[in-house]
Formats: sequence, C-alpha cells, structure tokens
Amino acid sequence: MNIKSIEWRNGAIKIIDQTKLPGVFGYIDIKDLKTLCKAIKELKVRGAPALGAAAGLGVYLGIKDSTAKDFSVFKKELNKVISYIGSSRPTAKNLFYGLERMRKAAESNKEKPVSLVKKILLSEAREIIEEDRASCRRIGSYGQKFIHSGDTILTICNAGILATVDYGTALGVLYSACEKGKKIKVYSCETRPLLQGARLTCWELNRKGIDVTLICDNMAATLMRQGKIDKVIAGADRIAANGDTANKIGTYNLAVLARFHKIPFYIAAPASTFDLRIHSGKEIPIEERKKEESTELFFAKPIAPKGVKVFSPAFDVTPDNLISAIITDKGVIRPPYIKNIRKILER
Ligand code: MRU
Repeated sequence: MNIKSIEWRNGAIKIIDQTKLPGVFGYIDIKDLKTLCKAIKELKVRGAPALGAAAGLGVYLGIKDSTAKDFSVFKKELNKVISYIGSSRPTAKNLFYGLERMRKAAESNKEKPVSLVKKILLSEAREIIEEDRASCRRIGSYGQKFIHSGDTILTICNAGILATVDYGTALGVLYSACEKGKKIKVYSCETRPLLQGARLTCWELNRKGIDVTLICDNMAATLMRQGKIDKVIAGADRIAANGDTANKIGTYNLAVLARFHKIPFYIAAPASTFDLRIHSGKEIPIEERKKEESTELFFAKPIAPKGVKVFSPAFDVTPDNLISAIITDKGVIRPPYIKNIRKILER
C-alpha cells in the first residue's frame, strides 16, 4: 500500500517529517498555523503538489477555531491566514493554487453561515488532496508511454510520493511504467544542498523495489557521455505560459547536458503547477535558502571557511526550448509550448 505524505487526521495535519528521512520514517501532527509554516520553510513537507495540499489544509487549520459570526469578519481572518501561508515559500505555484482554491470556496459560499463555510473549506482541502492523487496517476499513465523496458532514467530532487500526496509526478511516470511490467534503472542526482535526491528519491525508489543508483550532481555529464542515460525526467515548481520551467536547482544543468548529448528531457507536472499569468520564466520568483544549508547542515564539521559568502537559489529555470515534452494530467504537451500549453490545459 502506498504511504500518504499528508492528510487531515484527528483535528491535525499529519505529515511525514521529510527532514528525518532516510534515517527515520515517521509522522508528525501539526495543530497550529505557525508550526505548519515552520514545517514548510524547513522542508518537513515539501514538493510542489504536497505544498498545494498543505496550503489547503493549512487554511482550514488557521480558520477552524474562528469565532466570527458574519462573513465579513471571517473573510478578514481568512485573508490573514492565506497571506501568512503564502509568505512561507515563493516558488511553487501549487501552494498559491491551493490558497486560491480555498479563497474562492469561501467567497462562493459567503451567504451561508460561517460554521458551514468552515465545513466547506475542509471539504475543499480534501478535494485538493483527492485531485492530486488522481492527477498524478493520470500523469503516470500518459508519461509511461515514453518509457521503454531496459531504459535507464536520470532524475533530480524528489518528485515522487513524498513531493505529492501519494504517487508522484516524475517518479509517478516511473511507477506507472513499472506497473506495466517495464524493467527500468534509475540514476538519482543527490541534489545539493538539501539532498532530496539522495535522502528521499533513493529511499522512495528502494522502498518500491526499483533499481536506483545515487550519483553526485557533477557526475551527470560523464554518465551521459558514456551512453548510460536514455531519458531525463524531472518535476516542476512553476511553469510559465511559454513553457519555461522552474524546478530544483540543477535541473537546468541537466537539460543543457541532455540537449548536448541528444537525450530526451521531460518535465512531469499537473495543471496546478502552470502559471499562465506569467509569460516567461524570468517572472518566476526564485527562493533563496540560508547559507548554513550549503556550508554545514549535513556535515560533521563546516565544509567552508566561517563567514564565506554563499549564494543558494533553491530553483532554476529551464528554458522551454530544452524541454522535449511536458507530461501533464491533461495530456502530453509538445512544442510550440506558447500555443500548445493553453490548448491542452483548456481540455
Ligand atoms: O525544495 P523542494 O524540495 O520543495 O523542491 C521540490 C522540487 O524541486 C520538485 O522537483 C518539484 O516540487 C516537483 S514535485 C512533484
């Protein structure tokens, strides 16, 4: 049975604490908004679709004890909760998609008693979760057609069960291929500095019995040159109207290398990751992480001189022309993206 990375259970948001993996697999209960936002910032819960689910449940968590009697007072409280959650991480569109869904659900039921609006908000958050479960499976089913038995696939970060509710986007494509009986091998980039590839993707693929080999991020070019990689597949945090795609820092490197070595490079993401209000990747806000994550977090001793300047963007943008296809829950989008993204997403 698949594990769930996030759910609403007994009056709390239940998440897997991903910072403890792979050493400890355990759940924590989040009972207040401040703890949720801290967990998001610290990447206890992470990955674009999981952040969308956290945003939905977080809004409910933040307003469930409101004593407001009329909607105008309730709305002010709701807006405060929404902007507080919105300030936790800037890049993943899904987080803002989740918040917007909750705002709209409240607005369109404003004539109803506040007590009922609260119940509607819990259902909406649960709906976001159920939709993610279904959409990841659709991505898997469209995407597995690109995967052939015997393929070796390179991936980065973690776009799997842990990054979604329970299946994954890029890794969902691989799970779906395996469910069809295809035999594959996977290389996982460690994904410096927070090691989502080493800690989470390797853990997840091991658990699923998929043949996975860990590489340091700077080894991808060599593997490609040696002909060891058939396909590259990654998830996404935000996709602009022209197809430019923000994903974990290092994804762009892989896309450039893949083009040079004539290897297909795929992005897998649900419709909720697209931001059609922005024309290109230049408009995507890129989160910067604190320097200690690069200099000491995973080391017994600091690995850089004290006080050294550090630049640590959490994401990069892969230009649309390096992406062979974007696999979504509405179908596969191929270039020219500027035309085909809208065409497929409007389905
Ligand atoms: O900083 P993270 O771990 O939240 O970054 C996650 C990624 O970059 C994932 O690849 C992306 O969110 C897609 S998850 C299905």
